[in-house]
Amino acid sequence: MNTFRTDFLWGGATAANQYEGGWDVDGKGVSISDMCTNGSHTTPKRITPTFEEGTLYPSHEATDFYHHYEEDIALFAEMGFKTFRLSIAWTRIFPTGMEESPNETGLAFYDKVFDECKKYNIEPLVTISHYEMPYALVEKCNGWEGRECIGYFEKYCKVIFERYKDKVKYWLTFNEINAGTMIMGAAISLGTIKGYSGAVMGAPDEPQVRFQALHHQFVASAKVVKYAHEKYPQFKMGNMCLFATMYPFTCNPDDIIETQKQMRMVNWLCSDIQVRGEYPAYAKRFFEEKNITIKMEQGDEELLREGLVDFYTFSYYMSNCVSANPTKEQTEGNMLGGIKNPYLKASDWGWQIDPKGLRYTLNEIYDRYRIPLMVVENGLGAHDKLEEDGSIHDTYRIDYMREHIAQMKEAVGDGVDLMGYTPWGCIDLVSASTGEMAKRYGFIYLDKYDDGTGSLKRMRKDSFAWYKKVIASNGEEL
Ligand code: BG6
Repeated sequence: MNTFRTDFLWGGATAANQYEGGWDVDGKGVSISDMCTNGSHTTPKRITPTFEEGTLYPSHEATDFYHHYEEDIALFAEMGFKTFRLSIAWTRIFPTGMEESPNETGLAFYDKVFDECKKYNIEPLVTISHYEMPYALVEKCNGWEGRECIGYFEKYCKVIFERYKDKVKYWLTFNEINAGTMIMGAAISLGTIKGYSGAVMGAPDEPQVRFQALHHQFVASAKVVKYAHEKYPQFKMGNMCLFATMYPFTCNPDDIIETQKQMRMVNWLCSDIQVRGEYPAYAKRFFEEKNITIKMEQGDEELLREGLVDFYTFSYYMSNCVSANPTKEQTEGNMLGGIKNPYLKASDWGWQIDPKGLRYTLNEIYDRYRIPLMVVENGLGAHDKLEEDGSIHDTYRIDYMREHIAQMKEAVGDGVDLMGYTPWGCIDLVSASTGEMAKRYGFIYLDKYDDGTGSLKRMRKDSFAWYKKVIASNGEEL
C-alpha cells in the first residue's frame, strides 16, 4: 500500500538564475536576479538598479551549468534520475522580453541540454519562469504590474513550446507563484520594483500593486496552459506553489481563525485559481479590508476557467505556527517567518524541520484538488565540510531526506496520487534568499565559495550514493 508508483519521477531540481551562470554570453539579456548582490544569513542580499563596481553578483557565474551541463547531467544519470527539473532563462531567449524574434543561440543551448537528458532517458521538467524576468521589463512597465507582460510572456511560451515540443512534456508556468502574495515576492517574482534599490526582501509593501501584478500572472498562466492544451495535447501543464504549512499555535479559536486566514491567502489563493479556475469567495473580504481592487479585462474570468493545470506541484521545506497574539517568539522560514514550534528543530538558517508536515500537506492538497501532485522542491540547506580527501559526510541531509520520503510514502498510503519528487539544489547552487554558496542543498558538492572563488569542480557527497540507492529501490531502501 505504502509504495510509490512504478513510474515515479525521482530526480532533482534547479533554476537557471541560481545555477546556470553565463549571464551575459551568447546574447543573453539581464534578468532581475542578475542585478542581485550576494548576502548572507545576517546581511541582506540587495538589488541594485545599476551594477556596482567591486560588488559580487552571484548569478553571473553561479555554478556554471552553462559550461558543465554534460558533466552534471551525467552525474544525475549516475544517481538514476528519471527527471530533472530546470528552468529556462527567459532572457536567454528574449534578452529584454520585448524583441520580435528569439535569440537562436539561447534556444540552441536548451536543445543541447534536452538532448543530453534524452541520452540518459531523463525526462525534463521545465519551469518557464523562475525568479528571473527580464530586467528591461521592470524598467518598461514595473514588471508584472504592466498588463503588457502577459503578451511578452505568451510570445516567449509559444516559442519554447514549439521549439521543444518533441523534447519536453512536463511544464510549470511560474515558480512559487504565491510568492507574489508576500511582500518579498514583489522583488523576485513580480518585478514591481522599478527604480528600487535595497534589500531584496525589504521592497516596499504595496498590496494593490502586488495583487494586480499577480492577477496578470494568473491570466498569463491560464492563457499559455489553454494554448498548450489545444496545440500540444501531449503536454502536461502544472502550477508551482511555495507551501508554507501553518499550524495554529494553540487551540484558542482566535489562533484557529488567524491560521485559516493566512493559509487561504498565502497557500490556497493561487492554486484555487489555477486548479479550480476562479477567485475563491474568501478573497473578496481580504481585498476589501486591504482596499485592493483587481482590475480585470473582459475575458479574464473565462480564461481563468479555461486554463486549468493538469497537476499540482509545490516546494516544501518547513512549517510554522500562527497565533493571533503578535508577541509570540518568531522563527525564520522560506520567504515567510512564523511562530516557533516547540516540537520541532530548525536548520542553521532557522527553517523548522517537519517531515510529518509533508504528509499532512500532501493530504490537505490532495483532498482539496484531487489531481496528481509532485514535490518539486524539498531539502536541507546546510554548511557542508569538504574533507581533505574530497569526501563530504552529509549524514544530516540523508536523515532529513529519509524522514521526508518516509512521510511521502505514508501520504501515498493515505491515498494521495504522488507523481514524483525532485529535491532542491540536487547540485550545490546559489541560495535564492541570501545569495550565498554556503547554504548548500546538493548531493553534489561544488567547489565554489561566497567570495566568488573556487574551481567549480564537482564532488559526490555521501548523500549521492544514498539517493542512488533510494531511486534504484523505488524508495524501498531508505
Ligand atoms: C524556493 C525557491 O523558495 O526555495 C528556490 O524556488 C530556492 O529558488 C529554494 O533556492 C531554497 O531557498 P534558499 O533561500 O535556501 O535558496
